Amino acid sequence: MAKMGITHSINGNFKGKDILSLDQFTPLDLSILFKHTAKMRSIASQAKPSDLLKGNIVTLIFYESSSRTFGSFGASVKQLGGATIEILNPETFSSVSKGETLEDTVRVFEAYSDAIVIRHPLAGTAKKAADAAEFIPIINAGDGIGEHPTQALLDLYTIFEKTGKLDGLTGIMAGDMLNGRTVHSLIRGLSKYKNNELYLLSPKALRLNKNDLNGFRKTGAKIYEIDSVKDFPKNADFWYWTRVQKERFNSKSEYEKVKNNFILDNKLIKERAGKNTIFMHPLPRVGEIETKVDKDPRAVYLRSQIRNGMYVRMTLISLILGKIK
Ligand code: NCD
Repeated sequence: MAKMGITHSINGNFKGKDILSLDQFTPLDLSILFKHTAKMRSIASQAKPSDLLKGNIVTLIFYESSSRTFGSFGASVKQLGGATIEILNPETFSSVSKGETLEDTVRVFEAYSDAIVIRHPLAGTAKKAADAAEFIPIINAGDGIGEHPTQALLDLYTIFEKTGKLDGLTGIMAGDMLNGRTVHSLIRGLSKYKNNELYLLSPKALRLNKNDLNGFRKTGAKIYEIDSVKDFPKNADFWYWTRVQKERFNSKSEYEKVKNNFILDNKLIKERAGKNTIFMHPLPRVGEIETKVDKDPRAVYLRSQIRNGMYVRMTLISLILGKIK
């Protein structure tokens, strides 16, 4: 619902704001979010839903497949006593199949709901939806190779929960830096804090685009692009593994060349991880983390990283709907 072309900074006040990019957040905004998130955990564990969002309806419209983001947004609203309109595959199940434009679809669902959560295969579409909406906030649940801000918020919360800080961190990100929207948002987030060092491990063809890299380097974080696990720093605070984004490739053979060049397995952990290094992944994984690693107590990707997704989204929706401050 931002004025055309503008994406508002949060600046301590979430109410009515679209959530499109990690660029909107300052460390203070993140500390507000995280303060409430700790409380959402206890609300979610109660037998009865809270009534914080009673009478509110949130539309989830996903033009691209999703398990966690769709599931946890739905669960978040319901945990707080609100209701959802859930549309997966709008190309099949809504008037989009008849040729309705994105703008019209947004205008229609804003008449029925208090916020719209949107995922789309094209970068920039969440912004387009925000420009189309007149009255209600839009949340970007992943726009192509652009950003995935709510994933980064839960990733940052998970790192904060485990290490107690968001500055002075050493982290490794591995996989698809070029097409992976979760890393694009997470790097933006970590760049807001002082003295973070990020090592990006990927095949050369899947490095960040130069514009993004230069932009990130101008902000707080030190960023190193590396080709081999031999360049891993000792005792990193986190390893953030990602999937090579098959659906963004023009040909299967290009994908085959670069998929799973780097596998996280117990051998690598033994050689290179610290005793407090946490192992993260936004999921889905498609072979780049061996299932044997799941039992390692440092692996959080099927544990707190998942649960935190729901708590952080409960908080974010409550803040933008003005239910908490
Ligand atoms: C990610 C996404 O959709 O960008 N998944 C998610 O939301 N947890 C990561 C991916 O698909 O690789």
